[in-house]
Order: sequence, then C-alpha cells, then structure tokens
Amino acid sequence: MKIVVLAGSPHKKGTSNTLVEEFKRGAEEAGKQVEIIDLAHTDIHPCMGCDACGMNGDCIQKDKGNEILNKIIESDAIIFASPVYYYNISSQLKMMIDRFYAKTTKITNRNLKAGVIMTAWNNDDWTYDAIDKYFDILFDYMHFKDSGRIYGKGCGTISMIPKKYYDEAYKLGKEI
Ligand SMILES: Cc1cc2nc3c(=O)[nH]c(=O)nc-3n(C[C@H](O)[C@H](O)[C@H](O)COP(=O)(O)O)c2cc1C
Repeated sequence: MKIVVLAGSPHKKGTSNTLVEEFKRGAEEAGKQVEIIDLAHTDIHPCMGCDACGMNGDCIQKDKGNEILNKIIESDAIIFASPVYYYNISSQLKMMIDRFYAKTTKITNRNLKAGVIMTAWNNDDWTYDAIDKYFDILFDYMHFKDSGRIYGKGCGTISMIPKKYYDEAYKLGKEI
C-alpha cells in the first residue's frame, strides 16, 4: 500500500511533522510505503484558475505540482498534515489541494483512503469546528474514504504534545 503525506508545515521538525513521523513508523511497521512531501520546501505555485487543464490535464505551472499529482494518483491513501493557522489549514497545504483541480476526475476515480494530522496551540473544544467541516466536504467531493482525523489540541510546541496524539498517529499508520 502506498501512502502520500502532504505535509503543510514550514517547520521541518515541528509538531505536525512529529506526529507525521509517528504515523510513518506505524505504517511502515505494517508494511506500508510512506512518502512525505514537504510542501513548504518544495517548488509549488498556486492554481491560477486559467482552466488550461480542463480539470483533466497538466497544469501550466512549471513546478513540482504535476509530479505530486501523479504520485497521488498512483497511491492508495493520502494524509493531509498541517498546523492550524487562523483556524484553518496552512496556505502551503491549501495551495496543493487547489492544484488537485487539474486531475480532479483521476483522483476521485481512485477512491483514496484519506486521513488528517493537525496540531494547534489552542485547547478549546471548538478549535477544529471549521476545519472538520471543511474536510467533511472535501472528502465527499473528492470521493475520499475517511480513515481517521487527528486533531491535536494544546500542541503548540513538541514538548506540549500530549502522549495520546502520538498513540493516535501511530495507530492511524498501522490501521489505514
Ligand atoms: C501564522 C500562524 C497562525 C496560527 N494560528 C493558530 C490558530 O488559529 N489557533 C491555534 O490554536 N494555533 C495557531 N497557531 C499555532 C500553531 O498552530 C501551533 O504552534 C502548531 O503547533 C504549529 O505546528 P508546526 O510546528 O507543525 O508548524 C498559529 C501559528 C502561526 C505561525
């Protein structure tokens, strides 16, 4: 099983990537293949809405976006990883999601398994309300099969991350 992780934090060794590593450990122990794509340090530009792709072609952007799209199409599962930025996903992750546009049908036809790994400083119970709704709609639209969402609260720094989130990330990797 091939899993692509779209990692949207600019912190290579930050909180969300710490949980992504734990996810990877669980997945690899279960014999799965994990590729983490560090979106914040990869040459990717935004969708320009030019429609040259016709939602079923290559994007005009000459960057790594097309290559990443092909990896997604060839995978069995996708993980969206990000810090919470103003109660949303990071712009680095959103930029790649917008680039799905060029291959929408090819991605929806795959019925990929999908999961979410996120971290926030805040600990309020409403921290992920908008984000969770967004992923509900995105997963439905993209025909993703929900395999689990880890919404880390009180995870402002690595030392703050409660142990339960490490356990959840490892388990998601094992079971996805
Ligand atoms: C631009 C920016 C916006 C943020 N917005 C929020 C927020 O809305 N709510 C919150 O709880 N934490 C917010 N944070 C804190 C981060 O979500 C938190 O520190 C997280 O652990 C960072 O994850 P990372 O180490 O994976 O990048 C924000 C941080 C930054 C830099």
